[in-house]
Amino acid sequence: MKNIVVIGAGTMGNGIAHTFAQTGFKVNLVDVSEEALQKGISTISKNLDRIIAKGNLTEEQKAETLGNITSFTQLSEACENADLIVEAATENQDLKLKIFKQMDELAPEKCILATNTSSISITKIAAATKRPEKVIGMHFMNPVPIMKLVEIIKGYSTSKKTFDAIFEMSKTLGKVPVEVNDYPGFVANRILMPMINEAIETLYNGVAGVEEIDTVMKLGMAHPMGPLQLADFIGLDVCLAILNVMYDGFKNPKYAPNPLLVNMVMAGKLGVKSGEGFYDYSESKKAEKVAKMFQR
Ligand SMILES: NC(=O)c1ccc[n+]([C@@H]2O[C@H](COP(=O)([O-])OP(=O)(O)OC[C@H]3O[C@@H](n4cnc5c(N)ncnc54)[C@H](O)[C@@H]3O)[C@@H](O)[C@H]2O)c1
Repeated sequence: MKNIVVIGAGTMGNGIAHTFAQTGFKVNLVDVSEEALQKGISTISKNLDRIIAKGNLTEEQKAETLGNITSFTQLSEACENADLIVEAATENQDLKLKIFKQMDELAPEKCILATNTSSISITKIAAATKRPEKVIGMHFMNPVPIMKLVEIIKGYSTSKKTFDAIFEMSKTLGKVPVEVNDYPGFVANRILMPMINEAIETLYNGVAGVEEIDTVMKLGMAHPMGPLQLADFIGLDVCLAILNVMYDGFKNPKYAPNPLLVNMVMAGKLGVKSGEGFYDYSESKKAEKVAKMFQR
């Protein structure tokens, strides 16, 4: 596999494009929004500077990495020669089904279609295509250039050949792939999201404040970051979407999103990406917090 297409240049898409490009793959980065593409490339450039500052990359390697990425707003132009497409667009089932139908029509027959979805059924996404055996979940973690884990999720029809190819490809990227079956939330979010939701419930019930809840989990449980801050980094809209998928999928009230989370998303308080969530991410503070995250 040489030619990679990444769909979506947001939080995850730019990190995925960065990781493939730094490993030497040619990446076509696609987003419906020109602004998101520009922001994505600028984020990649800043994150490469952080790696240079740590002494782990040269200016030449940065230029090569950026040179490996080409931006597109039209999917049709981007996936002509694709060997692998990784979809990282907004967490919305109807949108993903539409994108996969399009990808299936546009991509070469040999091309594997992967999704970075946090919770939506791989089997359902695969059923929107005529190549369900070549559809798989490739669930990277945020921030992608730093985090080692990739959940590799097998849909009902995913072939062993596709699974093996993606498992090996993840190792090439310097990641640690873990094999997971296709149930709502997979493993990572099935465990993480109820904890984040419970942290929000604890705040909602007035048991403690934002900083206090995060401090308890950081210093008491040795978590590198508190659950409310982590929710801000993930995006509160993404957390809400994942909880809703698990709530619908398991028909179990334990996954019902807390009303405070629902209200914050309706108010546009989405965390780091909107500038405010449980914490304030006005420009100066945001730079400081993101820099800290990359020191992990
Ligand atoms: N945020 C996280 O921590 C995290 C972690 C793992 C997986 N994910 C998953 O990754 C995916 C992306 O999440 P995100 O946090 O990067 O979202 P985001 O909101 O930051 O970015 C989504 C991007 O998709 C673009 N987009 C929307 N429709 C599109 C289309 N038709 N074609 C091309 N681009 C389109 C948007 O313009 C936006 O730039 C979701 O499925 C999410 O569940 C997120």
